[in-house]
Amino acid sequence: AQNGALKNQRVLITAGGTREALDPVRFLTNRSSGKMGYALAQAAAEAGASVQLITTINRNVAYSVKTIMVESTQEMYDQVMSHVPDSDIFISAAAVADYRPAQKADQKIKKTDDNNMTINLVKNPDILAEVGRHKRQQYVVGFAAETQDLLAYADAKLKTKGADMLVANDVSRSDIGFSSDDNQVVVLTASHEPQYLPVQSKLDTARAIIQLIAKEYN
Ligand code: PMT
Repeated sequence: AQNGALKNQRVLITAGGTREALDPVRFLTNRSSGKMGYALAQAAAEAGASVQLITTINRNVAYSVKTIMVESTQEMYDQVMSHVPDSDIFISAAAVADYRPAQKADQKIKKTDDNNMTINLVKNPDILAEVGRHKRQQYVVGFAAETQDLLAYADAKLKTKGADMLVANDVSRSDIGFSSDDNQVVVLTASHEPQYLPVQSKLDTARAIIQLIAKEYN
């Protein structure tokens, strides 16, 4: 279904889980499939926006969405920072690693006689918080993936990350959240009561989120 709710708007979206390399053959990541971010890209395109997607995962997308593939948080950060000045709306649906290995080994890490191994991690940049801090006219939308105290944590992220809207989902459930085809979200803004959306496909969830963004942004 086409509609013009975001006609002439430029929407930048991130999708998928970032991959943090340990060595040339191994990485740390998470369960994100990219489905939610791709659904948002489709819904924004349906609404008439021109859409730029920065993603770790390659999926089919029905509309003329421009995609850039990245792997690590640092690569995603660099691409977001270079595209955000030309965007009106930023939606951070990617599952971004908070930490990465302090070093990436040049060669495959070998097994030793030691039964224990320690990996040192260092903090990654927070892409959403950085966009929130430096935004000009942009409308900034974050997600919160939580396994407990969904509303409280999401509300804290709305404030600390400088977002205009926070979409919270419970990732402890297997029927919604990571990898599943469905999602159920609560949408928070500074000025409204939390809005609870029903369990529905990620595409219908995305369409509802896009309509809420359009209403807030216009
Ligand atoms: O990809 P799917 O399998 O479809 O699953 C969808 C999803 C569960 C990944 C998605 O709906 C979702 O919740 N995405 C956000 C995941 C996440 O990283 O949540 P968080 O609560 O850890 O982070 C809060 C927000 O800050 C997010 O908008 C995240 O993109 C952003 N962030 C986090 C850390 C960081 N270093 N940089 C960031 O930009």
